[in-house]
Amino acid sequence: MPSVEGVGARRAALQMLDGVLRRGQTLETAAGASTRNLSPPDRALAVAIAGETLRRIPDLDSLIDSATRQRLPDDSKARIVLRLALAQKIGLGTPDHAVVATALPLVDGGPRRLVHGVLGTLLRRGLPAVDAPRLPPQVEQRWRDAWGEPVVEAARRQIAKRPPLDLTFVDDTESKAYAKAHGGVSLAPGHVRIESSAVAALAGFGEGRWWVQDLAASLPARLIPAAAKDVLDLCAAPGGKTMQLAAAGHIVTSVDSSKARLERLRENLDRTHLTAELVEADALTWDPKRQFDAILLDVPCSATGTFRRHPEVLYRARPPIIAAAAEFQGKLLDRAAQWLKPGASLIYCVCSLEPQEGEQVISAFLADHSDFAMEPAELPDFVTSSGNGSVRILPGLLEDEGGLDGFFIARLVRRG
Ligand SMILES: C[S@@+](CC[C@H](N)C(=O)[O-])C[C@H]1O[C@@H](n2cnc3c(N)ncnc32)[C@H](O)[C@@H]1O
Repeated sequence: MPSVEGVGARRAALQMLDGVLRRGQTLETAAGASTRNLSPPDRALAVAIAGETLRRIPDLDSLIDSATRQRLPDDSKARIVLRLALAQKIGLGTPDHAVVATALPLVDGGPRRLVHGVLGTLLRRGLPAVDAPRLPPQVEQRWRDAWGEPVVEAARRQIAKRPPLDLTFVDDTESKAYAKAHGGVSLAPGHVRIESSAVAALAGFGEGRWWVQDLAASLPARLIPAAAKDVLDLCAAPGGKTMQLAAAGHIVTSVDSSKARLERLRENLDRTHLTAELVEADALTWDPKRQFDAILLDVPCSATGTFRRHPEVLYRARPPIIAAAAEFQGKLLDRAAQWLKPGASLIYCVCSLEPQEGEQVISAFLADHSDFAMEPAELPDFVTSSGNGSVRILPGLLEDEGGLDGFFIARLVRRG
C-alpha cells in the first residue's frame, strides 16, 4: 500500500506520546528518538501534534467516550491515535480528510474500523472549540486545594495559548528601545516580550545582546544584592541566571552536576561575551572551602510551573515524584546554607506550582535553622511579595500580557 503523506509525522507523534505517558519521558527526549528520520517540517509537525494532544487530553477523552459503547483503556493504541487525530482538528485546524487519512495507517492490523467509526461520528457531529481545556483531574484538584478555583481556571486558559517569547538583555538600558523598535513590550528593566518564535532570526541574537528567559525565571537573580561580589549560582545550567549575575557585574561561580548542561552554559556565556567560573560537581558532595557573599539556588524540581511550554509536566509530575523532589531540595538547601557568609542572602527558587517544593521546603528549613530569617524581596511592580520575603507567581498574573511561568522565590538571610 503506498504510504499516505504526513503519516511519518503522526507516527512520530504517537511514539512521543507513548514516551511521555507510559515511560515518563520529557517531550524533548521523546522527540529526539522518535523524529530522528524526519525532515525539519515533519519534525516540527510531530512535536506540534504531540504538544497539542498533551494540552487537551481530558477534553479529547470526553469526546472519544461520547462516541464509543465500551470505554477504551487509557493506554490503548486506539485511544492514543484518536486523541492525536482529534487534537489536530481542534488545535491545529487540520482538514477532516487529512485527519482520517493519516490516523488509519497508525492502527493497520488493529482496531482500524473502530478508529474510523469514532472519527467519522465525531467529525460529522462537529468538534467544539475549546479555549480553556481541562487539566488532568488530579492536577486540577491539587492546584484548587493549594491556590483556589480562579487559579485553576487561569491555568486552563493559559494552556490553550502559545506563551510569548521573553528576552533578557546583557545591557539593561537597551531593552526599552529594542521593544519599541521590534513591536515588543518591556515589563521590567532588561526585559523584552515579543510575539515571535524565530529566535535565531531576531536582531541581536548573533551578537549575543540577549538570551531567551521567561520573565518569571528572571526574577530570582534580581534579588541578589548589588553589593555582593563573590556569588555562587548553584544548579546553574543552562545558565539564564548565571548570565544575569555576570551581566550585573558579580563574580560568579556556577556549579552544576550535568556535564552536557554545563556545555550549554559555556556556549551561552561565549555567545553573550560574559564570564563565570564553571564547576562540574554534585552539590551534595562538593566542598567549596569558602563562604560566599550571596547564593542563588535554583533547585531541580517537578517544573509544573512551565506547563504552558511543557504540557507533559502535568503527566510526569506525579505525587511520589514531587515528594522525592521536595526531599532533595531540602538537602540542597541545607548544604548551600553552610556556604553563606553571616549577614549574606540566599535566594531559593523553583519553577513549580507545588507548595511542597516551595513554601513547605522553606518553612521546614527555617524550623531547623534559627540562624536564618526571611527578608522582604523587592521586585518589579507587577509582582507582589507576601511581605515576609517570599514571592509566588501563579497562573493569571499578567494574563492579558501573555502570562508568566509559575514560580516560587524566597529570600533568606543568615543572621550576622
Ligand atoms: C532548574 S535547573 C537550573 C536552571 C538554571 N539555574 C538556569 O537558570 O538556567 C536545575 C539544575 O540542577 C542541576 N542539578 C541537579 N542535581 C544536582 C546536584 N546534585 N548538584 C548540582 N546540580 C544539580 C541540573 O543538572 C539542572 O541543570
